[in-house]
Amino acid sequence: MKIIFKIILFTHFVYPFVSSDVSGKNGVVVSSKIQASDIGINIMKNGGNAIDAAIGVCFALAVTHPSAGNIGGGGFMVIKFADGKSTAIDFRETAPILSTENMFQDENGEVIQSMSTSSSLSVGVPGTVAGMGYVYEKYATLPWKDLVYPSFLLAKYGFELDLHNHYLFNNPSLINKLNQDKVSRKVFVENKSYNLKDNIIQAELAETLLRIANYGYKEFYFGQTADNIISCMKRKNGIISYDDLASYRVNELNPIEFKYRDYNVISMPPSSSGGITLAIILNQLENLDFSDMMFQDYQHVHYMAEISKLAYVDRYKYLGDINFIDIPINYLKSQAYADSLFNSIDKNISKSSSDLHDSIKVSNNESEETTHYSIIDKYGNCVSVTTTLNGWFGSGITVDNSGFLLNNEMDDFSIKPGYPNMYGIIGSDKNSIKPSKRMLSSMTPTIVTNSDNSPLLITGSPGGSTIITTVTQVINNVIDFNMEIKDAVESKRFHQQWFPDVIQIEKNSLNTEVINKLLDAKHSLIYRSDTGLGEANSIMIIDNLYYGASDSRRGAKASAY
Ligand code: DON
Repeated sequence: MKIIFKIILFTHFVYPFVSSDVSGKNGVVVSSKIQASDIGINIMKNGGNAIDAAIGVCFALAVTHPSAGNIGGGGFMVIKFADGKSTAIDFRETAPILSTENMFQDENGEVIQSMSTSSSLSVGVPGTVAGMGYVYEKYATLPWKDLVYPSFLLAKYGFELDLHNHYLFNNPSLINKLNQDKVSRKVFVENKSYNLKDNIIQAELAETLLRIANYGYKEFYFGQTADNIISCMKRKNGIISYDDLASYRVNELNPIEFKYRDYNVISMPPSSSGGITLAIILNQLENLDFSDMMFQDYQHVHYMAEISKLAYVDRYKYLGDINFIDIPINYLKSQAYADSLFNSIDKNISKSSSDLHDSIKVSNNESEETTHYSIIDKYGNCVSVTTTLNGWFGSGITVDNSGFLLNNEMDDFSIKPGYPNMYGIIGSDKNSIKPSKRMLSSMTPTIVTNSDNSPLLITGSPGGSTIITTVTQVINNVIDFNMEIKDAVESKRFHQQWFPDVIQIEKNSLNTEVINKLLDAKHSLIYRSDTGLGEANSIMIIDNLYYGASDSRRGAKASAY
């Protein structure tokens, strides 16, 4: 107790006390794993910028968070540079050239259960390594090898198993998933034990990372690793080809930018639905005056739920890969459009989801596994990255002689229009499968700036379809409820995604009076039975000082200097 007290006093002496896990003025990294956050900080201490650090953290998470961190998946990065410009990098997986619209349906048009989540056809062409290579060539400053090598060492010599990994590696249904693939069984299950604090060595992954460190990111798409991916596809009757790997492209895009009150929000454009859906939510939220609201009182939860429902209808109706469909982005992110939606909300009664659009089949699947990290460097460059294999351990298929898992991102397509994916979220034909198309994501790496364009907040989260409402609530907490960053991240959250027509609430969250009022207003409510909604690893910037807050829901960790 005495020690804690001293540390708090010491921090207080250096910086004004702000509720956070770490503070610094040269750099902060908040990620799911301490080893990854430390690698990011070391890269910055060695002269790297936040983009260098983001590359190092990405590879480190592929080692220390094998169920979500990855080189066999994809993701999104939003950057706001110190000079005020911003950009968005889409390294999302793509559908293999041989994929077809109905590939997950039988001859009667019925969805074949689990084919889109745990067969070799569930795998999209991975984008992560290309994404890191792209930002390296354009925005990084240190030698590539210096960014990848620390992760090679972590794989070769091991990292200490933390509580969250302990839970995942001992979870019977996840072990069962890994056991379905003989290479995953050998690499992750057979003769392995996962006790807390065990040192976990991944020899094959180390070799793969060494190749990538030595030969560059193209090794993954053209070298030995590409050969190993193709061998894996042959072994599992998959369809990813050398052409798929060679033709994978990273897209650099204009971020979705809009104002929320006096602040600017910079977020991810399609192929993620995140930025546009966030705009539709926050623009509606601007119609509320939070000075008469208590945090998570009836009005707050009711309006947020109704607002989110309307936004998720638009996600369904309009969103998919913009290279394949037209999306009226300016219309959807306009204040006028949001105001028209907001005006349709009744303050006393929840509108039934089926009245908002055709009635649709509902699923209650829940399990959200991705990883988000936020970084700022001493120059003020901000990086927000969300990356994933989709489900925990992705498809459960490990690449031969390579030690890394492949994603099951194909499930994020609407495998049949109106049919819910593993997050219970539904898509329309806008998100149907086409060769080389990107499946619609909910990942929402986001940066918020003050009215003078200086950074205020770097945030994002895992959580499948719940990502967007998690990011909304962090922003709402900071801007409308004046919370400091740790409180904004740790406060209880809730989620409504149109279908299923229910508000998911975290354990020990809303009080009985609020719950009763919501029930009277015809909302349905359900408690989350798991660790909760998301993992919003975030950074807040106040007077050029940086405050990092890791989300304790999954045991994330921040580092600073
Ligand atoms: O792209 C998406 O929206 C999903 N594949 C993300 C999955 C996810 O967030 C899992 N999270 N914990």
